Amino acid sequence: MSDSTYAVFGHPVEHSLSPRIHAEFGKQLGIALAYTAIDAPPQTFAAQLRAFDGRGANVTLPNKQSVLPLCAEVSDFARRVGAVNTLTRRLDKHWRGDNTDGAGLVRDITQRHGLDLRERHGLILGAGGAARAAAFALLDAGVAQLTIVNRTPERADELADAIGEPDRVHTRYWADLDTIGNFDLIVNATSAGHAHEALQLPFAIVAPRALCYDLSYGLVASAFLAWARAAKAGYVHDGLGMLIEQAAESFAIWHGQRPDTDPVYAELRAELPLHASD
Ligand code: ATR
Repeated sequence: MSDSTYAVFGHPVEHSLSPRIHAEFGKQLGIALAYTAIDAPPQTFAAQLRAFDGRGANVTLPNKQSVLPLCAEVSDFARRVGAVNTLTRRLDKHWRGDNTDGAGLVRDITQRHGLDLRERHGLILGAGGAARAAAFALLDAGVAQLTIVNRTPERADELADAIGEPDRVHTRYWADLDTIGNFDLIVNATSAGHAHEALQLPFAIVAPRALCYDLSYGLVASAFLAWARAAKAGYVHDGLGMLIEQAAESFAIWHGQRPDTDPVYAELRAELPLHASD
């Protein structure tokens, strides 16, 4: 086993910022590490992971769910979400799986942006893998109510059933967004931006002082962020901070020290073509 070797497995993965983020964290804390990106299509991912002799790895799309059965041990949060994004080599060489996406989201909102999640009435758009991690994390962080709306309503119902908190978690149809009132937390967890598709969203769902948050960043998030600003949301943020915070959580699991994320955030933010209003 190579003690200082780490990687991110994804497909596509060439644009992943993780190698750069982890290199910067290592430099900051004086920890020598090699962190590479490994292109791993679903068909070959398991074999590639078996051949990897590093101490830890991140797993990103499309392998976050399929890696679960390859772990000897999985954290409670990752088990509930049904997805793993962080692998840590145990002493017996087998993998432990964690999911740091949810903690990354909550930390970005509460620590970086200084916003309180407790007692909010939240709306999640989407019910895929990204929405699952966000939903569990936001509920754990104390949002009062969470409504899930998905283009395919059955998936929203599946997620609500998996959460199993009928008093706090509700599902609605997309077509009913015009009439279901407003929310002070709206999270875009759809992948519509990746396909350059615009979401049809009424301004009426945005409560005064609402936080509108897109789990993506850069051009992919731009349409939702522009909509949120036009709707006069109080706070409008993309998911760049979440990306860096989930990386810091993984780093802390592997190295036992949490890096200062602010310098890395400032550097990457300055390079993005579009800025969140922070
Ligand atoms: P991820 O892991 O990024 O969440 P995913 O599991 O494929 O990816 O989920 C993508 C989510 O974006 C789904 O909720 C999807 O809705 P469907 O379940 O109906 O497919 C949602 N999505 C993608 N494109 C969309 C669009 N143009 N409008 C609305 N929702 C969209």
